Amino acid sequence: MAPSIYIDEDVGRDDSTATGAETAPYKTLVHALVNHEPTTEGIQYLTRKSQTDAAGENVDPAAKLEWKPATKSAMKKATNLFEQRKKKAAKEHELAIREKAEADKRQAVLEEAKKIVIKEDTSLAKPVRIRLDNTDPAVVSLRTPESDAPGTRVRVLGRVHRMRAQKDYVFITLADGYGYMQCILTGDMVKSFDIMTLTLETSMAIHGEMRAVPPKQHAPNDRELHADFFTVIGKAAGDKEAITTRVAPDADPQTLYDNRHLVLRGETSSSVMKVRSACLRAFRKAFEKNRMVEVTPPAMVQTQVEGGSTLFGFDYYGENAYLTQSSQLYLETCLPALGDVYCVCPSFRAEKSLTRRHLSEYTHIEAELDFITFTDLLDHIEDVICNVIDFTLAEPEIAAYVQKLNPDFKRPSRPFRRMKYSDAIQWLIEHDIPNEEGKPHQFGDDIAEAAERRMTDIINTPIFLTHFPAEIKAFYMLKDPEDRRVTESVDVLMPGVGEIVGGSMRMDNWDELMNAYKHEGMDPSPYYWYTDQRKYGTSPHGGYGLGLERFLAWLCARYTVRDCSLYPRFTGRCTP
Ligand code: 4AD
Repeated sequence: MAPSIYIDEDVGRDDSTATGAETAPYKTLVHALVNHEPTTEGIQYLTRKSQTDAAGENVDPAAKLEWKPATKSAMKKATNLFEQRKKKAAKEHELAIREKAEADKRQAVLEEAKKIVIKEDTSLAKPVRIRLDNTDPAVVSLRTPESDAPGTRVRVLGRVHRMRAQKDYVFITLADGYGYMQCILTGDMVKSFDIMTLTLETSMAIHGEMRAVPPKQHAPNDRELHADFFTVIGKAAGDKEAITTRVAPDADPQTLYDNRHLVLRGETSSSVMKVRSACLRAFRKAFEKNRMVEVTPPAMVQTQVEGGSTLFGFDYYGENAYLTQSSQLYLETCLPALGDVYCVCPSFRAEKSLTRRHLSEYTHIEAELDFITFTDLLDHIEDVICNVIDFTLAEPEIAAYVQKLNPDFKRPSRPFRRMKYSDAIQWLIEHDIPNEEGKPHQFGDDIAEAAERRMTDIINTPIFLTHFPAEIKAFYMLKDPEDRRVTESVDVLMPGVGEIVGGSMRMDNWDELMNAYKHEGMDPSPYYWYTDQRKYGTSPHGGYGLGLERFLAWLCARYTVRDCSLYPRFTGRCTP
């Protein structure tokens, strides 16, 4: 008897519990066709229409539930769908077969590759170990097309930064933190298991001859290593764990911060870190030039410098203590003993806002100068900044990084523009740049980050913004004898970033300082050691602090200071 296949749109099922029998019908006609092809003689498909609407309500409770053969049009529709599915399944099957064949073939090739053993030819010259940036002609000579003299045989160690395979060649750009080198592998090496399965960041040693790159081709330092031997030292993870998957260029910023340890291996981040290191050298050199002494004040303190709202507190053997906001107060105490001093130390700020120029921990370069006037202070800051730029760019490797990171960088012309706070307020009013409440600026406003940056970007040169009102500045700042509403204070503003330096002359009179504590509601007792400075041979003195990451954001044209810190700390991030 010709079989009957049952399809019930309400209670039928398109899974393994259905058989197509009246007691276990399918839900759709196409599923019935899949399981019982219409090729069987006399096969009929009996359907029962849905008795409910989309909401599951019974549309016709009185309707008699009877099986009816599927209509012609329903059969046509279902058959089309069925044919389509059949074709798709066939294609997938074919693809799977092909993929399997390819995988088998590759596996066979890899098995063969495993048999290849790369041995060093001991008759070759002993290789000279070099770092990848070594271009000293006394150490490394290149074989050139013009001369037949062999190039130096070298041994280099590094990690695979880039690779490209051709039929008979594999090009590897090795990186070792000093530089990059193009290495070319040929012959059996290319067919070896290690090279056939090579992953980015694998560490390896390569031996071979140094040659000049052929004309019109490019490679770091215009040279390439023609390998005759290599060893893999540490394989790097591949596939889903490959570095390019972990830190894909389009990854969201949080993923990139989580993987900062891997991001640092990239060319951009590593060049910023190299410029950072060069700047630190340059600052120290600029301070040395001024015969200033480096000191290292404590990070754990019991006094505030820049206001209580950004203090990180902690329990110190049962006492309240803080992570330092600034080493300034300590630097001031060093003047009588050591003369002018500076420090390069971390400062900590529990900043509440997430901005592109605020970190919770940053490298603070602070200096303090004795027996000076406010003008001396400004001249000194300008001098140090310009010296640091000159020293940094005097290193050709660093100048090249800066040029790549910030092609438009120009050394600022001197003297820097000096602008009083009151004139800046006037400037903001004239340029219709409102304050944070959307109103025109007025004397006494703390110029907000956005307005400050707009002004700096429009003026587009470094600005010494001076003489801020006492009310918006720290307790220790000296008042201007000619206008006691304001202080002898300075912020250095740079285009693109805004404030990179904050400094001032310090109150050097004991009574005035005691009044300042009182005015701020501060208990003077923990500050006894700072106040003593005014008791034992006081002096007119002043200093400043420069945020290294902000300086770098300016020099290297980085959007945020976070990219200028090795492992940035900001609101909500203390990892890795
Ligand atoms: O203007 P600030 O708060 O001044 C002081 O701390 C003074 N006691 C320094 C001194 O006179 N010795 O900070 C100085 C500089 C700022 O101009 C800025 O470059 C940087 O430190 N800075 C920050 N950098 C990154 N993230 C933060 N949260 C910063 N806060 C300040």
